[in-house]
Amino acid sequence: MNIVSLFSGAGGLDLGLKQAGHNIVWANDIDADAVATYKANVCHNIICADIAVIATNTIPDCDVVVGGFPCQGFSMANLKRNADDSRNTLYKYFLKIVSDKHPLYFIAENVKGILSLDNGKTIQRIIADFKTAGYDVEIHKVNMADYGVPQHRERVIIIGQRNDLSPSKHLKFPQPTHTKDSWVSIKTAIGDLPPAGDTSTDPNNTGSNYKVTIRNFTAHRATDPDKPSPTILARGNGKGGVCAIPHYNGLRRLTIRESAVIQTFPRDFIFIGKMGSCYRQIGNAVPVLFGKMLGEKLAEIEKQ
Ligand SMILES: C[S@@+](CC[C@H](N)C(=O)[O-])C[C@H]1O[C@@H](n2cnc3c(N)ncnc32)[C@H](O)[C@@H]1O
Repeated sequence: MNIVSLFSGAGGLDLGLKQAGHNIVWANDIDADAVATYKANVCHNIICADIAVIATNTIPDCDVVVGGFPCQGFSMANLKRNADDSRNTLYKYFLKIVSDKHPLYFIAENVKGILSLDNGKTIQRIIADFKTAGYDVEIHKVNMADYGVPQHRERVIIIGQRNDLSPSKHLKFPQPTHTKDSWVSIKTAIGDLPPAGDTSTDPNNTGSNYKVTIRNFTAHRATDPDKPSPTILARGNGKGGVCAIPHYNGLRRLTIRESAVIQTFPRDFIFIGKMGSCYRQIGNAVPVLFGKMLGEKLAEIEKQ
């Protein structure tokens, strides 16, 4: 299918969709580093610009619009969580583009905080807005560990299907492939990587010198080698803190490569930018593996 991608970031979701055989016909992000990373690894059809200045008629027609609209305002990790946060309105650009392009499907990813924001009124408003635009909307709360990602990552996936689609064209949401007993551990995922700082086989296998102190709150808890990784986050606790997930050796922060592997980016995927930017691009991403599973479900419809 032809896909338009908004808020594309480094392209975790888009690479997964591409791996499932789809074409990214147009993509956009405001962050120059993320766009450079995207071009180096996913495709060149990406424009670096603020979504607010993009005219819809410059975006090609497509079958699917995807996008993880920014979630800082929605994130439970943000102490200033507030329905009036201006960043929440970025989703309205997503809504406008879906309304104008009228694709068969849209897929939006967000943090689970979106469900409880303003006592659930925000998500109800989002559902109502897309209904008005002509879409049946499904909300799926997922833990990426249940899909074979070596990480606890609870996210909300909003699926929109145009309300004139025949039942045979309905997108079936991917079923979980793993349970608590078969979750992939962080040690299984990154245990074979070279030592931190050794980039001879794995680019970006470097990490900031951020001193790990286990303080038992988000991103500062000890990491259990036999469990999936804690959520790889883009930022800290809303006070601007660093989200330095400790390696399970307890001595240091995960390297950029280790974080990327936990987000199921391929080992040869190169991140461009300063260290903080690379960590942020990775923390922002939809795991590539999950993107591929969604893409496979879209491909199944094509074959019918
Ligand atoms: C959650 S991330 C998306 C990650 C992506 N889905 C992936 O899988 O890698 C949200 C992205 O929105 C971008 N963004 C924020 N404000 C924007 C704006 N006004 N215009 C375009 N992009 C914006 C950020 O730079 C960030 O990369």
